[in-house]
Amino acid sequence: MQFRSGNELRESFLGFFEERGHRRFPSFSLVPEDPSIMFTIAGMVPFKPYFLGLKVPPVKRATTSQKCIRTNDIENVGRTARHHTFFEMLGNFSFGDYFKKEVIPWAWEFVTERVGLDPDRLTATIYRDDDEAFEIWHRVVGLPEDRIVRMGEEDNFWAVGPVGPCGPCSEIIYDQGPSFSCGKPDCKVGCSCDRYLEIWNLVFMQFNRDEAGNLVPLPKQNIDTGMGLERLASVVQGVRTDFDTDLFVPLIRQACAITGHTYGSNAKGDMAVRVISDHLRAISFMIADGILPSNEGRGYVLRRLLRRAVRWGRLLDIERPFLSSMLPTVIEVMGDHYREIPERQNAIRQVIDFEEAKFGKTLQQGTALIESELRRLADRGEKVLSGDVAFELYDTYGFPIELTEEICEDASFTLDRKGFELAMEDQRERARSSSKMTAASLSGNVYTELAKSIGQVAFVGYSETRSQSRVLAIIQNGDAVDELQAGDEAEAILDRTPFYAEKGGQVGDTGTLSSEIVKAKVLDTVSPVAELVVLRIRVEEGLLRKGDTVLAAVDEERRWDIRRHHTATHLLHEALIHVLGDHVRQAGSLVNPDALRFDFTHFSPVTREELARVEKIVNDQVLRNVPLETLETDLEKAKEMGAKALFSEKYGHRVRVVSVPGFSTELCGGTHCNSTGDIGLFRIVREEGIGSGLRRITAQAGRPAYLAQKADHEVVDRLKESLGIHETEHLPERVRSLLDELSAARREAADAKLGALLCRASDLAASARQVGNFSIVTGRFEGVGMDLLRQLADAVKNRLSGAVIVFASVEEGKVSLMAMGDETAVSNGFHAGRLIGSIAPLVGGSGGGRPNLAQAGGKLPQKAAEALDAVPNVVGKLFASRS
Ligand code: SER
Repeated sequence: MQFRSGNELRESFLGFFEERGHRRFPSFSLVPEDPSIMFTIAGMVPFKPYFLGLKVPPVKRATTSQKCIRTNDIENVGRTARHHTFFEMLGNFSFGDYFKKEVIPWAWEFVTERVGLDPDRLTATIYRDDDEAFEIWHRVVGLPEDRIVRMGEEDNFWAVGPVGPCGPCSEIIYDQGPSFSCGKPDCKVGCSCDRYLEIWNLVFMQFNRDEAGNLVPLPKQNIDTGMGLERLASVVQGVRTDFDTDLFVPLIRQACAITGHTYGSNAKGDMAVRVISDHLRAISFMIADGILPSNEGRGYVLRRLLRRAVRWGRLLDIERPFLSSMLPTVIEVMGDHYREIPERQNAIRQVIDFEEAKFGKTLQQGTALIESELRRLADRGEKVLSGDVAFELYDTYGFPIELTEEICEDASFTLDRKGFELAMEDQRERARSSSKMTAASLSGNVYTELAKSIGQVAFVGYSETRSQSRVLAIIQNGDAVDELQAGDEAEAILDRTPFYAEKGGQVGDTGTLSSEIVKAKVLDTVSPVAELVVLRIRVEEGLLRKGDTVLAAVDEERRWDIRRHHTATHLLHEALIHVLGDHVRQAGSLVNPDALRFDFTHFSPVTREELARVEKIVNDQVLRNVPLETLETDLEKAKEMGAKALFSEKYGHRVRVVSVPGFSTELCGGTHCNSTGDIGLFRIVREEGIGSGLRRITAQAGRPAYLAQKADHEVVDRLKESLGIHETEHLPERVRSLLDELSAARREAADAKLGALLCRASDLAASARQVGNFSIVTGRFEGVGMDLLRQLADAVKNRLSGAVIVFASVEEGKVSLMAMGDETAVSNGFHAGRLIGSIAPLVGGSGGGRPNLAQAGGKLPQKAAEALDAVPNVVGKLFASRS
């Protein structure tokens, strides 16, 4: 067989289906629009609405090489020949167009003629009672009967999930030969070893499985096929594993160079470089599609993969950050086809470096923690680290279990792996049940049903804020109803709506619905499925009936506030890039009438000076009063225009581009000002960190900005008034001089107090009582600080020999005690700390100190006198006998 590179195979597949009338789409994002799944796991995912008949496809035939992430078998990655977290799925799709009799012969032609696989090594599996597929394989393709194998539901019925489109399938199996066999006597087609390799899955998608498990026929018969590019390449290139194909070899080589491992010399090292290569591809593509490390959802998967890669590096003694140094190799292998990797390489590198450095620290913390736990066990004579502790290390400190295990082994401990697996399984169970819940609540609900009958609702709100509209449906407590009365809260769907539904960070519109017979408030607007705009309403007066025509009116002022904040968000985004650099990526935003919030990638706090520059750039654009331009186009054109796209934006569809000519161009579905001048005023309120490498700016535009500015001015005016100054610019200086005056006055007051206290020193010394060789002076004061007490005690001490001084100062709810002894007293055995230790309990406290000075605090000021009275006795008992 002729050698073909992975890139050639991908191109050859897409070209083959283009020749057969398919439109080639660029790969869709790894982040699916479908909220019920976390990642794009197959080529068909982006096309789901077309299969379900929810949307009309732009074409009937499509072909893609789709980026996919699957993480269900992560532990096997690197261990086996074929497991990956990231892979490319070649696919061709028919949306109600061709079916089995076209796709089977095409698939055969592609693998035998285009790719050149030996027909004698190929077998087809079919679903057990799919006689139609059997006939096509046998009669049209000419495959002998004994190489068409009927299999059960588990192998030959494909479904995207428990609910959703599905159908029987037929797989093409390639016999890699006896040297790949597991050697078991019953090793045959269907065996899970590497000999009989499934290379292509042809799904005859004709059902939708509903929540009750029923197979409901889809409106049309569809085709969805999927072939792993890495696997195809390994067969064509005649190598034993996917990691030996040209898609991986450069990465494996580089990982070996970095770690000093010789590939093939030992299993652990081989696994390490395979894990690193696999995970780095996944990490790079995930970040390019806008995913950032976090502690939940997709971000958590990204973090886990990155940490797993780092830890496998550590196992080969790589202590320094190394992952991003391999990024150029990912670009070299895949960058021509997936332009997002070279285009976003700066951001990818920064995220990787930041996260890797951060994990370097966690690794240290984790190591310290596990070592102290092992010491604790050793003290108790125990030898097993519990599964719960290992899980906590794994879960909280991101500490990989293999590393924990290894450290245990090095210290001659064992790890309760079973206990760990149990803790892990508990967590998986929790995750599973929560993802089931999302899937259940998101499919087959009332909106999906309505979307099928209503289709796409017209949104007219870009140009109108009032419209005569017909009420198409009313939903109350999850059921469609015909009528609402005054007081009812429910949801309504109009045929054409000026109300913007919450999306892309912009909040939903509010307003009113009215006619001669009804007055209703629109409290919010949402879009639970893409086709529908749903108004949350409360009927104030009269009756709202399905079928009636009403005047739908958006709250105009509020909408203007929202527009200003949305346009300001675009200006802010661009200004941040100007000031901070092009690694700045939007990570989230919120646009409401009161403020805007903009989250973005950046790796240090934004300085006050940078913020001032950003704010000025935005206000300069406001003053330019540039008219905004919006247009609808396709994604390719939008990209050519340099439009900033968010990862959640969908490829292959018409997109809306909003530009401030000469400054900013973004893909955006939101509502905007006519000209930048409409914004009026822009001010940054706050800048803060919200996660690793993520910053948040809160800002205001238009009316709220003006009101906040005005409130600030009022405060300034009041300050000026009370300080008796006229010029604002003199305010800081005046405040500073007042503060200086204040501290001088405080110092003076303290000195005066000390002076007054020191006057009492002679009287106090004269009041000394003799116990043995000690001259004991006690005193009770009100609200005098420790510092002053000590100075007073020093003054008393200097007037006596063998001085023992105990002072108490009382304040609301508390008492402070201080004891001091002079050199003679101490040499005669006095110890201030012990004295304080004995009397502090009398005031409900505790304390201690040195022989010459000690202090304590207590909660019972009313007992201060009693404690002081006890001093001579206590001194007599504790110290006098020795003097
Ligand atoms: N959706 C099927 C699969 O993932 C075929 O593309 O195997």
